[in-house]
Amino acid sequence: MADLHIINHPLVQHKISLLRDKNTGTKEFRELVSELAMLIGYEATRDLPLKEIEIETPVAVAKTKVISGRKLAVVPVLRAGLGMVDGVTSLVPAAKIGHIGLFRDPDTHTSVQYYSKLPDDIAERDVIIVDPMVATGHSANSAIEVIKGKGVKNIKFMCIICSPEGINAVREKNPDVEIYAGVVDEGLNEDKYIVPGVGDAGDRIFGTK
Ligand code: URA
Repeated sequence: MADLHIINHPLVQHKISLLRDKNTGTKEFRELVSELAMLIGYEATRDLPLKEIEIETPVAVAKTKVISGRKLAVVPVLRAGLGMVDGVTSLVPAAKIGHIGLFRDPDTHTSVQYYSKLPDDIAERDVIIVDPMVATGHSANSAIEVIKGKGVKNIKFMCIICSPEGINAVREKNPDVEIYAGVVDEGLNEDKYIVPGVGDAGDRIFGTK
């Protein structure tokens, strides 16, 4: 099974509580998703390789470190994943951004791809896929499949809230993908919404309901 990193940082847990509140409005919800993406992204980038360089300070030459190695791409799963892009790119401004559009078939609850636009050089990049909610795990697995199909070797998946069944489905199908999440909730209801969750994250980010 893939590694699952739950980010127990107090700031993450506090912001998730604010996100859950049905009285949290669109502006605040969007800001919280972005902040959570930055905090979880901080952990997801913890193992970026460094190389030593020399920099002249006003006082002396410093042997110091900068990030080296393969470049990053961030891939949000449309539409809710868009809310997490700014948070991650504020940490890694040079990252390129791809998009994968998936919708959930209301009858079968499986995910259907309707859009994909990825950087040309994605196979040479490490990829962080972002989607705030992992419910059944179908869209996470579909997005990972699309990225793997482009020849990407190092993929991480970041979410804010997941269900136990969804995250296990991803971990079992993609044992090579490290997962970073804020919290694992109780489960899914009959409509495959995460309980207690936050409701429809896309609607709450974009104010469409
Ligand atoms: N997507 C959401 O936005 N919310 C859920 O609870 C499940 C999937």
